[in-house]
Amino acid sequence: MKIRDLAIHPPLALAPMVGLSHSALRTLLIELGGVGLLFSEMLSAKRLPSENETISPGLIRAPLESPLFYQIYASESSNIEAAVDKLVELDAQGVDLNLGCPAPQLKKIGAGRFLLDRPDELVTVLRRLRKAATLPVSVKIRIGEQPDRNRLLQTCRFLEDEGVDLITIHARLAGDKFCRRPRWELLDGLPDRLNVPVLANGGIFSVEDARRCLECTGASGLMIGRGVVRWPWLISDIARELYHCQSPLAQYSREGLYFAFIDLLKQRFPRERRLGRLKQFTHYFASAHDFGHLLASRVQSSSSLEQATERAGEFFRQAA
Ligand SMILES: Cc1cc2nc3c(=O)[nH]c(=O)nc-3n(C[C@H](O)[C@H](O)[C@H](O)COP(=O)(O)O)c2cc1C
Repeated sequence: MKIRDLAIHPPLALAPMVGLSHSALRTLLIELGGVGLLFSEMLSAKRLPSENETISPGLIRAPLESPLFYQIYASESSNIEAAVDKLVELDAQGVDLNLGCPAPQLKKIGAGRFLLDRPDELVTVLRRLRKAATLPVSVKIRIGEQPDRNRLLQTCRFLEDEGVDLITIHARLAGDKFCRRPRWELLDGLPDRLNVPVLANGGIFSVEDARRCLECTGASGLMIGRGVVRWPWLISDIARELYHCQSPLAQYSREGLYFAFIDLLKQRFPRERRLGRLKQFTHYFASAHDFGHLLASRVQSSSSLEQATERAGEFFRQAA
């Protein structure tokens, strides 16, 4: 897959997820191999220029985390140039505009999915983004309000005409919950009718899901979120099975991977930022394991990283 001049192989991306798609998880995925493109969690275009990359959790990054697209959300076009300048300073490989998130915080300011309801401001945001960024520009959207293929195609063509280089489609309607079955069938044939690559996203939890999603949508590649937190080997498994990539670079047992993640949290984040991130990761990671609810509840009720680490150790010893 090519995004402008940037070759991405395999076309498998880590999704932007607040509190999850940070430096520790991204590093782990690079070590496991198979991930072709990384995204940051969404960052405020307004606040970005004044943030300190050595302490701001969304900006902390190690050089091996590449290629990395930083995702921004914006409610006003006037914030775009300074945000792009900051991303260039941070050695971004691309900038992604969030046009899919339906969260109330974004509703309040008219950003994310709500920027689509303000077409004049959206056009100005996209034009200023395109003009300011020599980097690839991507967008992430959901299918829309209704299951309407023509409307979705029109939206994608509009984005393409405004100079966007990659479109990710989360295959759910604006009002769908994450637990709902993804609507991959609504993407069927769409990527062929566009000139930019399309990543399909939503509900990929196994190699078989990945295969079916690609067959069903004809997408250029996949973006995966919760599935890779649940089972961090998922992207490298898909890369091997579907794209004939080599075996993982690092070999971890489940326990080994969990503790490697904790070590990375310690290396990357200030003390007070570690435990919350471990709890968020564990919520998904534990769900793929026998008796994982015990791991989750022990870690969730811990009051320090040290206590959580000790309790996780006990869990893995009992599970062995
Ligand atoms: C905890 C969490 C945080 C998320 N944060 C973001 C975000 O910052 N930006 C965004 O575009 N989507 C965000 N999403 C949506 C994911 O990127 C993705 O579209 C969604 O989880 C569906 O993909 P999946 O089924 O592979 O998880 C978030 C999802 C979760 C579960």
